[in-house]
Amino acid sequence: MSGYEPFVHGLHHVTLVTSSERVNRLFYTEVLGLRRVKLSVNQDDIYHRHLFYGDENGTSGSVITFFEWPHLVRGRPGLGSPHHLAYSVVSVDALRKWASWLRRNGVSVSGPHFHHGRVSIYLRDPDGVLLELTTKADEEPQAVLEMFRKETRVDAVSSDMRLTLMDHASPLATGAALLERFLSKTLGLRLVSRRENPHDPSSAILSFGTDESDFLRYLLKPSTRMGFVGVGNIHHIAVKVADEEEQKKIMRVLDSIGVRHSGIIDRFWFKSLYFRDPFGNLLEVATEGPGYTVDEPQESLGTRLILPPWLEPERTRIEEALRLIDEQHPAKWPPNYPPAPEEPERPE
Ligand SMILES: [Fe+2]
Ligand SMILES: [Fe+2]
Repeated sequence: MSGYEPFVHGLHHVTLVTSSERVNRLFYTEVLGLRRVKLSVNQDDIYHRHLFYGDENGTSGSVITFFEWPHLVRGRPGLGSPHHLAYSVVSVDALRKWASWLRRNGVSVSGPHFHHGRVSIYLRDPDGVLLELTTKADEEPQAVLEMFRKETRVDAVSSDMRLTLMDHASPLATGAALLERFLSKTLGLRLVSRRENPHDPSSAILSFGTDESDFLRYLLKPSTRMGFVGVGNIHHIAVKVADEEEQKKIMRVLDSIGVRHSGIIDRFWFKSLYFRDPFGNLLEVATEGPGYTVDEPQESLGTRLILPPWLEPERTRIEEALRLIDEQHPAKWPPNYPPAPEEPERPE
């Protein structure tokens, strides 16, 4: 027994970096079928946008967010810069439809790939972000391959294809024992499984989570280099807790073991606490509520620029800065999609 409560109950959101609001919006709404649930600015860099996409209500666990930094160079996955992000899909049939739909839109797709009772496809978004769509498979690989060979015309993201829940995020690490001790002590997460990586015999997949789900799937590779966060990479991974009391408990644990953290920050739609794991990956612990409908109605979520109250006095200057960004960085749509890797979960 670890003696620690599981404070954390799944992913809250994952935040990445894009070079273009327009291309990003068209891809995540028109191609991936998500809804923009908030259009705002980066609260730590207020003259740049922060974009939020998710299900119809912006339910935590469905939300992927982006900082728009057009001037930034491409990032590189490695320590401190997580590798990929996966959404759940309801069935193999829905996954097969996704492959057809994505290819029809010019997106390069890798797969189906089989691992440990699951089947996944992989793609890169226009900025190069590696995304996985995954589902549980009762079918044998041969039967799945036959299903994928059946080409059907998919004209839209149908209701059975909707992406409503993230399955896992995969940062990189070089040491299993330290990682397990850290995640258990700070977040109450347990090591659910340790498996070989089917795409790379020199690395392993360590899945952390609760009894219900494993949502942090670290790729463990002793030779991993430092990465750096830039365009096309994950900036941080947020896990969820019920309320601020839970955040305070985690903060006390961090203090007791000497891990630096941000303190609790009010992001208006939720409260946040940030710190790094022992391998430099930025983690956030965010509260479930109050949620994205606290400052605009559900029907019109994400349709206009929302600023938290303390930034309203800056609105004119902010809108001018965003207009200049759009003027200086014209966007091309449809984009040339980067190719999806043949062995997608192989760390560089
Ligand atoms: Fe994965
Ligand atoms: Fe965040």
